[in-house]
Amino acid sequence: MLKIEAVTKSFGGVRALANVDLSCESGEILGLIGPNGAGKSSLVNAISGVIKLDEGSVKLGGQNIAGHGAEFCARAGVARTFQNIRLFKELTVRQNIEVALITCAKVRPHIASKINIDTLLEEYNLLHFSDVPAGTLAYGNQRRLEIARALALGPKLLLLDEPAAGMNEAESEVLTVAIENIRRNVGCATIVIDHDLQFINKLCDRLCVMDQGRVIKSGDRTEVWADARVIEVYTGRPIEN
Ligand SMILES: Nc1ncnc2c1ncn2[C@@H]1O[C@H](COP(=O)(O)OP(=O)(O)OP(=O)(O)O)[C@@H](O)[C@H]1O
Ligand SMILES: [Mg+2]
Repeated sequence: MLKIEAVTKSFGGVRALANVDLSCESGEILGLIGPNGAGKSSLVNAISGVIKLDEGSVKLGGQNIAGHGAEFCARAGVARTFQNIRLFKELTVRQNIEVALITCAKVRPHIASKINIDTLLEEYNLLHFSDVPAGTLAYGNQRRLEIARALALGPKLLLLDEPAAGMNEAESEVLTVAIENIRRNVGCATIVIDHDLQFINKLCDRLCVMDQGRVIKSGDRTEVWADARVIEVYTGRPIEN
């Protein structure tokens, strides 16, 4: 579904993305991990049209979506959440979902007609907050609303930037089930960034590890955690042999 090739992006002298290749299939949950500043959010920003690439291509279902901006990517089927939550804070919880659903109805009417706002709010435990401004919700509820809003777009590709940040173990357990349900019910390609490796290992089929703007390893969990460079990045110590 998603195929990224040779994506490069610098901010002044900082090379945030250096020749990144990545793919993610429909129904797959890919874990994107790496230390602070590795380039994970920049990659998600590049895929979702939030930042412009210097070089490289981003294809969704064969369509090149790079260079057209965030609205184009959203219409093409890329939905996302942000590391620093970006809801329409003045709008109510329901209105936040409605905004996404309006877009979905324009570009994917057959999917929009199957999305029921009450069901979605219920699923994310937000129904009783329907009519309150999104900005007044507690942090965990705002994170869940961002995911629900992303789903109302009827995504082909869902990008979750640190969805479990600030959650306790019980909350991230609930989130794991919710994301597994997305795979089952929506079947989109999903990329999840998080620093909680227990959460990532439980959820993801395949991992992609970034460091200093590069992908240093991708593969299944066992393969990735057996890689000396990955261990070095996480422990700060070189592994001999
Ligand atoms: N808009 C920007 N302007 C300037 N520099 C940026 C910008 N966005 C990212 N960077 C820089 O690019 C590099 C990669 O940042 P990025 O936010 O992608 O890392 P990350 O892997 O998401 O880190 P974290 O785990 O801390 O969220 C960092 O050096 C960061 O300071
Ligand atoms: Mg980040």
